[in-house]
Amino acid sequence: MEPQAALTAHADGSEESRAGRKNAAYPEIRAFARRHGRLTAMARLEGKNAIVTGGAGGIGRAIALAFAREGAKVAVLDVKEELLAEAGRAGEGALVPMRCDVTDRAAVLDAVDGFADEAGGLDILVNNAVYFHYAPLVDMAEDTVHRMLDVGLKGTFWATQAATPHLIARGGGSVLNLSSVAVSFSIKNAAVYTSIKGAIDAFTRQQAVELAPHGIRVNALAPGPVSTPGSNSVIDEAGWASRRARTPLQRIADPEEIGAAAVYLASDDARTIAGVTLKIDGALTIAGP
Ligand SMILES: NC(=O)c1ccc[n+]([C@@H]2O[C@H](COP(=O)([O-])OP(=O)(O)OC[C@H]3O[C@@H](n4cnc5c(N)ncnc54)[C@H](O)[C@@H]3O)[C@@H](O)[C@H]2O)c1
Repeated sequence: MEPQAALTAHADGSEESRAGRKNAAYPEIRAFARRHGRLTAMARLEGKNAIVTGGAGGIGRAIALAFAREGAKVAVLDVKEELLAEAGRAGEGALVPMRCDVTDRAAVLDAVDGFADEAGGLDILVNNAVYFHYAPLVDMAEDTVHRMLDVGLKGTFWATQAATPHLIARGGGSVLNLSSVAVSFSIKNAAVYTSIKGAIDAFTRQQAVELAPHGIRVNALAPGPVSTPGSNSVIDEAGWASRRARTPLQRIADPEEIGAAAVYLASDDARTIAGVTLKIDGALTIAGP
């Protein structure tokens, strides 16, 4: 894109002509922009290939679309066929919908190998898939607990195992795990969910050190409450109101904000960031009484 076009991309009509006048007055700005590419709207993930598990709905979908907007080719692994088809349409060719249950290790290996081979390599993995269920621990059915662990924890292990050789072959890459502010306090009826997220934090630290010598940066995103199909299945209206009220910034993040943070951590802008868990919570977790 021409520097002039990039300069005006953030402005309304009147600003556009103002920017044009400025550029005419300062041709050295345009020369600088041409030399350094700083004023061009560079796609931050151009040429990157990414996989997002659970990427057909909720936060995963927002991350996948944000990656696609930044130039990445993105495989979306999910179990929901209709959501996958819809995500494929929304991604306008940049999203590759793949039906894959992350609890099935062999299927995850096949899907990751298949996408990486087809796309010509893999640069980014986002471990996002989750199965939400809140209940007092004594009431949790055994198969529900297994399902939550299989999707949220073991699914993260399988996808990371599958992706690592491809990231190493590429000379480095980025793994993002979805943690949660739920690790920072007790949430009513969420013992299994918060335990899984605590494990995801530990896994992130562990893998960040283990994979760093290969140039692979492993980080986590820890959103506060975000309205998604999954969270709405466990949080009622009163729950949303109290969460908003207790958040110092008095706002609940949109899935797109998590997507924006994921783009940053996955991009070369964050090339020295590894082993962090980035909270996106409006200061909820540090608010005192
Ligand atoms: N929504 C929140 O408030 C919130 C807050 C903090 C962290 N998170 C984390 O963000 C991530 C996404 O959460 P969400 O709210 O978007 O969840 P969601 O339930 O709305 O979406 C989860 C997606 O995962 C898919 N999925 C479920 N089982 C799968 C499987 N076996 N294989 C492949 N895909 C599967 C679902 O089909 C769905 O598309 C989770 O890791 C969650 O813990 C969410």
